Amino acid sequence: MTTILYLAVGPRGERSWSRRGGAEVLARLQRRHPDARVVVRDLAAQPPPLIDAVFADAILRPAEEWDAADREVLGYSEQAIGELEAADVVLIATPMNNYTVPATLKAWIDHIVRIRRTFVGSPQGKVGLLRDRPTYVVTASGGYHTGEGAAVQPDFLTPYLRAILATIGIRDVRFLSLQGMTRGPEAMAQAHESAKATLDLWFGA
Ligand SMILES: Cc1cc2nc3c(=O)[nH]c(=O)nc-3n(C[C@H](O)[C@H](O)[C@H](O)COP(=O)(O)O)c2cc1C
Repeated sequence: MTTILYLAVGPRGERSWSRRGGAEVLARLQRRHPDARVVVRDLAAQPPPLIDAVFADAILRPAEEWDAADREVLGYSEQAIGELEAADVVLIATPMNNYTVPATLKAWIDHIVRIRRTFVGSPQGKVGLLRDRPTYVVTASGGYHTGEGAAVQPDFLTPYLRAILATIGIRDVRFLSLQGMTRGPEAMAQAHESAKATLDLWFGA
C-alpha cells in the first residue's frame, strides 16, 4: 500500500490557493494509487513547537544519554520524522511568506532535519539518511518570482526547500507554483492554466 504524507501549511483554510493546488495534486495521486493511505499533517491547525534549549542540547548528545525531559521535547520531532520515513510520496502545499517558507514550515523543518537521525556530517558535506521518494511541492504567492521585470521577487522558497530536502536524502522533488494570486482574476486564471498544464504533464491529462 502506498502512503502519502500531505503537509498543508497555509492558515487560510478553504480559501488557500496552495491548499487547493495541494488537493488537486492529492486527487491525481489518489487516482494513480487508489488504495493509498493519506496522512495529513496540518501545520496551521497544529503548529509545531519552536525549538528550545533542551531540544538544541539533546540533539547533540547520543540517544543513550537522553533523560525523560529530552525524550519528551524530542517527541514531536520523532513523530514527524516517523511520518516522513513511512511516506512513499510526500506532498507539501505552502504559501510563500516574505520570499521564503512560512514560520510553521520552518519550525517543522527544524524538527525533521536532525544530525545523526536524518543526516550525518562528512568531509564531503551532509549526507541524507532517508530514502529518496517522489515529493511534490505546491506553492502560492501573491506576486511573481519567475519571469522578467523589476517586480519579479527573489525566491528563497524553492531553492531552500530543494536544499533542505536534499540534506536528508530527498532529491526527487517537483514544484508547482501558483503565482500572482493577489493580482486579480486574469493573473489567477493564467496561474490555473499553467498549473493544469504542469499537472497534466506530471500525471497525464
Ligand atoms: C505574512 C505574509 C507574507 C507574504 N509574503 C509574500 C511574498 O514574499 N511574496 C509574495 O508574492 N506574496 C506574499 N504573500 C502573499 C501570499 O503568498 C499569497 O496571498 C498566497 O496566495 C498565500 O497562500 P494561500 O493562498 O495558500 O493562503 C504574503 C502573505 C503573507 C500573509
